[in-house]
Amino acid sequence: MNEKKISEIKHAFAKRVVTLPDGTSLPSLGQGTWYMGENPQVRDKEIKALQLGLELGMTLIDTAEMYGNGDSERLVGEAIKGRRDEVFLVSKVYPHHAGLDMISKACENSLKRLGTDHLDLYLLHWRGRVPLAETIEGMEKLREEGKILRWGVSNFDTDDMEELWNTVNGKNSVTNQVLYHLGSRGIDYNLLPWQRKHNMPIMAYSPLAQGGSLRRQLLSDPTILDIADKYNAQPLQIALAWTIRSNNVIAIPKAVQEEHVLANAEAATIELTEEDLNRLDQVFPKPTRKMPLDII
Ligand SMILES: NC(=O)c1ccc[n+]([C@@H]2O[C@H](COP(=O)([O-])OP(=O)(O)OC[C@H]3O[C@@H](n4cnc5c(N)ncnc54)[C@H](OP(=O)(O)O)[C@@H]3O)[C@@H](O)[C@H]2O)c1
Repeated sequence: MNEKKISEIKHAFAKRVVTLPDGTSLPSLGQGTWYMGENPQVRDKEIKALQLGLELGMTLIDTAEMYGNGDSERLVGEAIKGRRDEVFLVSKVYPHHAGLDMISKACENSLKRLGTDHLDLYLLHWRGRVPLAETIEGMEKLREEGKILRWGVSNFDTDDMEELWNTVNGKNSVTNQVLYHLGSRGIDYNLLPWQRKHNMPIMAYSPLAQGGSLRRQLLSDPTILDIADKYNAQPLQIALAWTIRSNNVIAIPKAVQEEHVLANAEAATIELTEEDLNRLDQVFPKPTRKMPLDII
């Protein structure tokens, strides 16, 4: 990729921002890290991939204590060493660590593995048995202590969000991280509108449909291929550009191959037109009824 393209990408990121309820601006594309840090043979490559992503403007990095039993956080810690200030760092707590007895220790452990003294965002990975009110209390305590700057949730459907909203301090949540891509748009029915109404962006995980039949569909659908041709782009870049088409979704693709990191960052330069979006709606229609929340 030449200097001109890189500067075009950086320029695009300056415009493609998503604003959190507290006014913090984030790039609409970040980087996922699931499965990173698990294979020592590709460790250097994974670190370089995250660093390249940072240089291109994908400055949000998403990890979790669950990923590789902490190995993903260790790898991220190594990748951001000496440049912590450039990064918006997100990690997630296991539901069974999200009670008042465990959350502080779980967070401490994540901070240690990441080599930092604070997280920019801490998410409840999914709902478990711990009452929401207790998790919120734990999150608020961590915030007061400065160990996390903000908190949010993940894999919450609309009814969970309503419950969160009606729990003391629940409105302090800044995002909900859920599965969302062109082949899985159940949240377009009422969760995304709910989030928009409450001024809380979505963080879209598995925006490239990770693998399986939906990925194959995104790669081979004639309409996507035709639109990709128009932008001289790859089909998955069109899928990614679709995910970040509005200003209230941050997508967090995971990529280790250098060409994937470059392609994902470049997707920020693609602004789909109304006509493109209408054509995509024909093939991948918006749901007309409530669908169960997709989860992996
Ligand atoms: N909150 C949750 O419950 C939850 C659940 C799942 C995921 N997540 C987060 O979301 C992140 C992203 O989701 P994901 O990892 O499930 O899947 P994804 O980002 O949809 O897909 C990742 C896969 O796509 C490949 N890839 C990346 N860019 C590509 C490109 N431009 N062209 C072709 N292939 C490409 C990657 O290959 P290479 O790596 O070989 O480049 C990898 O195999 C995770 O890493 C994690 O941080 C959160």
